Amino acid sequence: MRYKYEDYCYTAEWLKEKLGAFRPELLIILGTGLGALADQIEEPVTVGYETIPNWEISTTNPADQGAVIFGKLQGKNVAVMRKRLHCYEGYSMEEVTFPVRVMKLLGVQSMIITNASGCVRTDWNIGDIMLIEDHIRLFDFGPLRGANIEEFGPRFNDMTEAYDPALKEVARQQAAEQGLELKEGVYMYFPGPQFETPAEIRAARTLGADAVGMSTVPEVTVAGHCGIRTLGFTVLTNMAAGVLPVKLSDDEVTVTANRIMPVFVQLVAGCIGRM
Ligand code: HPA
Repeated sequence: MRYKYEDYCYTAEWLKEKLGAFRPELLIILGTGLGALADQIEEPVTVGYETIPNWEISTTNPADQGAVIFGKLQGKNVAVMRKRLHCYEGYSMEEVTFPVRVMKLLGVQSMIITNASGCVRTDWNIGDIMLIEDHIRLFDFGPLRGANIEEFGPRFNDMTEAYDPALKEVARQQAAEQGLELKEGVYMYFPGPQFETPAEIRAARTLGADAVGMSTVPEVTVAGHCGIRTLGFTVLTNMAAGVLPVKLSDDEVTVTANRIMPVFVQLVAGCIGRM
């Protein structure tokens, strides 16, 4: 669907009716392996994706179409998206990023975005957590293609600080305090849903990627366009294709993500408290 500015406004007004006086300042998009963070939200108001006008549902697990949970976390008013939308589900970039613009209209100023990824570097380990320093997107049209909606931002928006320098510093401080060796690097977007080929991973490495994944870049692009500051993390759940002489599986991604969950939740919760 092609959205007009009025469509974003309509959905924002619909959510405001549900929220009373509550307004989120921080959007948190949870990737694989951070679900437990949602359990820490105080005074939660849960709104299922299937009930929200114009908002697509998550299709990766038929038992869970996704929900956005509004409430308090570490003293901040947050909106937590428990599942994200992906282009590989068949959604357009606009559909995937629709929630980010709606959150802007609700008053969100910052975003923490997380995901699982494959590790391109041979000197890092499965289970490492990487602060996303910057990203590479070479495939697919971006979410800003088409008529620009001036109310959100300019036609040609700057991507120099797509990941906010001050928020990166917050992450470094939190990691140091909890004794976590936080990696930093470049996340490269692949549209999926198939994992990459070993040749694609060698190409990614040559281009300067440290991790590869199938999400995040669309939302970050739209967030930057409308002036939301972004902090991004990825859990390296597996070695990328061809790095080790093994095949990739979704099971490995889930197992690693679940193993790292407590440390990751501590990192993200700590960052929220410091923001
Ligand atoms: N490639 C792309 N996306 C991923 C991977 C990977 O190896 N692991 C988790 N998400």
